[in-house]
This record gives sequence, C-alpha cells and structure tokens, in this order.
Amino acid sequence: MNATYLLDLLYLIAAITFVVGLKMLSHPDTARRGNQVAAVGMTLAVLGTLLLHPSADREMGDARTMKLLLLYAALAIGGAIGWIAAYRVKMTSMPQMVSLFNGLGGGCAALLAVAELKLQHDGFGHAGISYGAMILVLFTMFFGSVSFTGSLLAYAKLEDLVKDSAITLPRHSVVNMILLAGILGLIAYITFGAGENGMMWGLILFGISLVYGFMFVAPIGGADMPVVISVLNSFTGLTAAAAGIIYENLIMLVGGILVGASGSILTILMCKAMNRSIMNVLVGSFGGSSAASTKNAGDQTVREISVNDAAVLLNYSGSVMIVPGYGLAVAQAQKICKELDELLESNGVDVKYAIHPVAGRMPGHMNVLLAEADVPYPKLFDLEEANDLLAKSDVVIVVGANDVVNPAAKDDPGSPIYGMPVLEVWESKNVIVMKRSMKSGYAGIENELFFHPKTKMLFGDAKDTLQKLVSEVKSL
Ligand code: TAP
Repeated sequence: MNATYLLDLLYLIAAITFVVGLKMLSHPDTARRGNQVAAVGMTLAVLGTLLLHPSADREMGDARTMKLLLLYAALAIGGAIGWIAAYRVKMTSMPQMVSLFNGLGGGCAALLAVAELKLQHDGFGHAGISYGAMILVLFTMFFGSVSFTGSLLAYAKLEDLVKDSAITLPRHSVVNMILLAGILGLIAYITFGAGENGMMWGLILFGISLVYGFMFVAPIGGADMPVVISVLNSFTGLTAAAAGIIYENLIMLVGGILVGASGSILTILMCKAMNRSIMNVLVGSFGGSSAASTKNAGDQTVREISVNDAAVLLNYSGSVMIVPGYGLAVAQAQKICKELDELLESNGVDVKYAIHPVAGRMPGHMNVLLAEADVPYPKLFDLEEANDLLAKSDVVIVVGANDVVNPAAKDDPGSPIYGMPVLEVWESKNVIVMKRSMKSGYAGIENELFFHPKTKMLFGDAKDTLQKLVSEVKSL
C-alpha cells in the first residue's frame, strides 16, 4: 500500500480512537480504558507521521540526519519528562499538571505559526499566501501564545508561587482591552499592509500575545481558576486545529477540534455549576483570598462533637449522606470513608454520597476518588438530586468540603459566591463537619455553616477521624 494511503488510514484509526476514548471518559467505570484507547491512537498517529509522512524524505544527506536526530532526541526527552511527571503527580495537583501540559501544547502551536510566517514570508509557505491563510497563521500565533503564558501563570497560581494581588494592575481590564485592540490591529496590518516587514511585525505580535496571555490570567483567581484552565485548554485545541488546516494534517485538525470543543463544553458546564457567565468569570473577580462576606456575623458559637458521640449518632440513624470535598482528596481518606459506609450499611443505615460538580480541584474529582475506593456509582447523587435527599437525611457528614456547602451562596447577596448552587446540607436533621481547623476553603471566605445550630464540628485530619469513627462504630 502507498505510504500516504497507509498514513491516512492510521490517522483515521487514530481519530476514531480519540472519539471513542473521549466517550469512554464520561463514565468512571470506563474512563481508564478510554484514556488508554486514545493513547494508543495518539501513538499510531505520531509513529505514522514520523515514519510515513511525505516530508520525512523531502531532504537527504547530513541535514536530514541532523533534523531526524534532533526530532528523536526531543521526542525522547519530552516523552520521558511527561512520563515521569504523570507518574509522580499527586491527585490534588492534577489541575497544575493539566495546565502546564496544555500551555506547552499552545506554545508549540504558536512556534509552528512563527515558523510558518517565516516560510510564507520567504515564499515557501504551506498555507499559500491568501489573506485567509495569513489570518489563520496569525490567529494560531496569538491563541497559542496566550495559552502558553496564561497556562504557565495559572500553574504558578495553583502552586501558590504567585499571589493574585501581586500581579494585578490598577484598571487591569482596561489595559487588557487596549492590548487586545492592539493585537487585532496588528493582525490586520500584517495581513493587509505590512508587506516586506511582515516578519518583523509578526515577531512583535508574538511578543505582545505572550504578554497578553499573562495579563489575561493575572486578575483571575480563587475558585475561578478551573474555568480559566478550561478556557485556555479550548484555546490550545483551536490553535492545534488551525495548525491542522495550515499543514493540511487531518489528525491535528480532528484532535484540535475535539480538544477545543470539549474544553468549551467543560467551561460552559463549570460556569453553569457556579451560576456565572463566562464574561463574569473572565472579567469579574470572584473568590480571591481577600474576599469576604458582607453579612453581619450571627451566632458565632462553634459546637464540637466527640468521635464517640458522632459514632453513636451515625450508627443509630436511618439515613446518612456523605459530602466529600477537597479535604477528602488531601487526606486520601476515600478508602476508609468507604469502610465506614459499609460498616454503617451492615448496621442497617442507608448511606449515600452528595457530589457537587466543583467539589475538589478538578471536574469529576470526587467521582474519581470514590471510584478508586470502589464506591458503587449508583450511591453517588449529583447536586439537584442530592439536595432533595439532603432534606430527608438524618445525618450529613461533610468530609473536607467547605465552599460547596456554604449557605452564603444562597442567602448572602454580598458574598462573592452568592448565586452559586451549593449542597444544602443544613436542611438535614444533623450536620457533622470534618476538617482540621476553622480555616476557609479555596474561595477564601467564611462559612456560616460551621456556626449553624444543627452543625457539630469534628476536628482533625479526615483520614484519622474516619479511622477513629470506624473503630468506635465497631465497638458499639
Ligand atoms: P474547599 O472549599 O477548598 O475546602 C476544603 C476544606 O478541606 C478546607 O476548608 C480544609 O479545611 C479541609 N481540609 C484540607 N485538608 C484536610 C484534611 N487532611 N482533613 C480534613 N479536612 C481537610 O473544598 P470544596 O468544598 O471541595 O470546594 C472546592 C473549591 O475549589 C470550590 O471553591 C471550587 O470552585 C474550587 N475549585 C474547584 C475545582 C473543580 S473543577 N472541582 C478546581 C479548582 C478550584 P482545614 O484546612 O481546616 O482542614
């Protein structure tokens, strides 16, 4: 079979595996396998390109050998770093890693666009010299650069390497709008009027776009970070798709469209889960660490419960709802949580889980953790169903969750999270909150739930506390 046909066939198989893999990712039972299916497709596409792409034997001699050596060395080094990083990353640091990898993808597409601009300029471009092709190259450069520096900054913010307030300018959004207008103007100028100087202006555009990526993410912080990561992810997808058009490479096009579309859908879903518009997330400021509720503090009495009393309360109730949050992930308490669940069930208690869509630090974080502990999926209820069930529960145990159970989202119009749908745990008969201290959660705001008359605090690391609860319930 002709090499080009074989390559097209490999690309087709790879594209199918991407779609099938993506579909399988939508359920915890099949997600791991889905990832493997898509990875096999990507391996086929990469190997096929390396071995069968027509450009592979366009040049001969030493220059070709040198290029191939560089290519294989880059692949080996990049692959090894990616492998080790993915192997070592903690579950709780997943958003940082996604952000970093995504940024590198965007940076790569931006560099391709710079190289393409040079080729266009020298009269050898792949995309032809039509205005449409030039605009495509310049937009790839712009979005790829924004994704690169924006993702690097998002990584630094999530790692707590930089503070939001330290990098925000006065009238930041005005500065951003001016920069954006300048960038659009430059794109128009390079396309229609720069002529001979196109390359120089292209490099200026590249530089300003890198700065814009940084400026775009700078004012966004707190609980909005996952949304911004998802937006940048979709930018990278779009740039990869545009690069696919420039290079007439179908697999880049399909892969880019899938990443762009899924990133956009995820962004919309997350905004919906927080009851915010995308503009509000990107231009507004939500949940920085300085955010505070405007509501007058009511009764600030903290009521504690002992492990023994909590065990009795749980063991002799009819229905218990567990609300996992980020603290469950930090403590890696999912397995012991499942043990408590089984123990209570064996004593006749009905145990269910209430899952908030943005609990934890990444979409589906709680589902993944609980799936790891083999908690049956039908026991997990999403926000709306869970809120109906919470009102009928005897006891709710909040395990390391905070923002997603904050009543201010419902009843304090001055709160930065006002309007975000939350799990209304206070509607149940009793609430036990497990955490280590009275510290705030990710959004950096007070939580009146901890002072609610129905709430009892059970302080300590979630894993230790659950372990003690299991021992205590066993001894009853
Ligand atoms: P958070 O509001 O972040 O609260 C987690 C709580 O867990 C903290 O208050 C902390 O209190 C407690 N905790 C930490 N380690 C613990 C441990 N070892 N044992 C027991 N408790 C521990 O979590 P949430 O309610 O899950 O809300 C998620 C927040 O993250 C939201 O604001 C969301 O918007 C944001 N966010 C979500 C995502 C996605 S997509 N899921 C991504 C990024 C950000 P102590 O320090 O007192 O123990």
